[in-house]
Amino acid sequence: MTTVERTVLGVGIDRVDGGQKASGSAPYSGDVTYPGLVHAVLVRSTIAAGRIAAIDASGAEEVPGVLAVVTHENAPRVQRSPATPLWRQPPAPLQRTDIVHHGQYVAMVVADTVEQATEAARLVEVAYEPAEAVVRLDDPRAVDVEDPYGSDQTRGDSAAGLADADVVIDAQYTTPDETNNPMGLFATVAAWDGDRLTVHDTTQWPDSTRNALAGAFGVPESGVRVLAPFVGGGFGAGLRVWPHVILAAMAARVVGRPVKLMLTRPQMFTGIGHRPATIQRIRLGARRDGTLTAIEHESVQPSAIDDDNIVESVTTVSSVGYACPNVTTRDRLRRLNVPVPTSMRGPGDAQGHFGLECALDELAYELGIDPLELRMRNYAEEHPQLRLPWSSKALRRCYELGAERFGWWERDPQPRSMRRGDTLIGYGMAGVTFFWFQQPCEARATIDREGRAFVRSAATDIGTGTYTVMTQLSADRLGLRVDQVRMGLGDTELPSAPMQGGSGMTASLGSAIHDAAGNLIAAFLDLVADDIASPLRGLTAADVVAVDGRLQRRDDPAAGESYREMLDRHDLPDLTADGSAVPAKPEELGLAPAGPFAARFAEVHVDADLGRISVARLVTVVDAGRILNPKTARSQIIGGAVGGIGMALLEETVTDPGTGRIVNATFGDYLIAVNADVPDLDVSFVGDPDRFNPVGVKGVGEIGLVGVAPAIANAVFHATGRRIRTLPLTLDKLL
Ligand code: MOS
Repeated sequence: MTTVERTVLGVGIDRVDGGQKASGSAPYSGDVTYPGLVHAVLVRSTIAAGRIAAIDASGAEEVPGVLAVVTHENAPRVQRSPATPLWRQPPAPLQRTDIVHHGQYVAMVVADTVEQATEAARLVEVAYEPAEAVVRLDDPRAVDVEDPYGSDQTRGDSAAGLADADVVIDAQYTTPDETNNPMGLFATVAAWDGDRLTVHDTTQWPDSTRNALAGAFGVPESGVRVLAPFVGGGFGAGLRVWPHVILAAMAARVVGRPVKLMLTRPQMFTGIGHRPATIQRIRLGARRDGTLTAIEHESVQPSAIDDDNIVESVTTVSSVGYACPNVTTRDRLRRLNVPVPTSMRGPGDAQGHFGLECALDELAYELGIDPLELRMRNYAEEHPQLRLPWSSKALRRCYELGAERFGWWERDPQPRSMRRGDTLIGYGMAGVTFFWFQQPCEARATIDREGRAFVRSAATDIGTGTYTVMTQLSADRLGLRVDQVRMGLGDTELPSAPMQGGSGMTASLGSAIHDAAGNLIAAFLDLVADDIASPLRGLTAADVVAVDGRLQRRDDPAAGESYREMLDRHDLPDLTADGSAVPAKPEELGLAPAGPFAARFAEVHVDADLGRISVARLVTVVDAGRILNPKTARSQIIGGAVGGIGMALLEETVTDPGTGRIVNATFGDYLIAVNADVPDLDVSFVGDPDRFNPVGVKGVGEIGLVGVAPAIANAVFHATGRRIRTLPLTLDKLL
């Protein structure tokens, strides 16, 4: 018998779906086709507020191949989809005349080809009655809403803490709207068979899409199947069920044919959310020795007129990041005539860390204390809000290792002191305390007579490596080789799963698979419980280990048998077990659930005459608990860091204040980091397995982005002596 590699967890194997992706055979929703498939193209509002006065579709209807022009006048009635536990769904599309943002869908053309539909869409004439639009976050006419989710925090008395301080920092930081820009255009393919609906969608959460479609069309959820086995990038844009998804299904119903609807790049800027801008005010109080006496952090972010994303808790880091006795945080929404924002990689924490970690840098200079030393002096040994030990925290080790790898202590603290010719050199750093997130999840595992496993769940892989790490986890738990495990994802026919979001999928799905695999081993032991031919009879799961395709006695490895032998003898084709997991409760474990932590160190080069900023080095050390696959985990951190460089230096969705139109809604105008903007990225992992879930993992999906912008902004200050409190850090702000 050949001995297999027992330990597949923690090994940086290649992606199990890499071949499919590299060869182009991975089926993304935009690739799906059906016999008789036709195409829908959307027409968008050219005003930001007001109402539709009239629509003339006659020109469009004359275009050859056009099957239908759908407007509010003739659209089938659909309901607003039911809310998820986390947010309301958007209003049902094409049901009313009022316009609440530029780019709102006002008509849909369905035609035999996408070219015909595109041509006809241009000929739909819409007359509007415009109204005053409020599109700027600093517009005094905008209406504020308190955070409906109550994420505001207080402890102690921050006013007293500020009064008591030797030094106070009081500053405003702003971050702009940014747009989730996965390379793949969002696409939905919808096909009805009577009242049964099949939809292939770009979604991070198939179960939610199914629920929303069933609610919109008044059909049972059991008759709706949503498939998303491959998603491409999401970055949060696929968390919600957007109006175009409902419209694709509506189009298919209207013309009685399967329909494909693929957004254009400009429609990606108005139709699938964006990171909301923030205006943050931060006050820090400290004693001369650097001890924080108070943190006050207020933030306002935009929301749409009639649509709410979950409020992004921008200020959370200020209540959990440091051991400060007096803290007040507050998040508000401000209603604007803009497309609804949604989560974008590192929601809330990305913007909030920019504010807080820059303010701490300002405090460090004010006190004459090294910025890293200041963070060490205020290290939160326990969760400062829950007053419980963290389930895991190795942030101190992140700081120490990061400083060593970067060469932080060679830094001359004096701003503008490090220079090479015309290049000003700056070193900056930031700490990251990311939120914790886990959701209930289910999974199913089968082992067949070939000794192969099929493990599945409705969860998605949005390029994060879920197929790969869940294959590794399943193989480890079941004692199989990686190539003996097949993973099924992205199909609502499979056991229910939460969104691939909030960096929570590895903990959520991993815990469910851990449970399913344990139950499957128990099912095999049940099978042979009274089987006198089995060396495993009468044993429980605790008595055995799974290794080399077999179960064997923990205390006697020779006593055991393979899955195949058990199935053969009992004449069964296979054996299946379900598993599920719900997040643990802090009070039950006596632990505060920890998200991942990180330390980031940036070196920037600034052209002394032109103000051109480039990132020369970025060193990251992450504590994300147990790392299931260092290769895919590192890939997540690198990808996030590239997004962070974009956030720091380039990304900004610009809305024209007069019309509410997004003026840079193309890849030519909306700048994202490209290879030339990205230096070699140094990534290390530290820390112990987390104690809050049985797999020991924390998320790696988002923390790669968080803290990059403040580390770079702080490095720019060190290089130039100029403090920029508004992202992105463009050269006009330095001149
Ligand atoms: Mo993430 S922004 O929760 O997809």
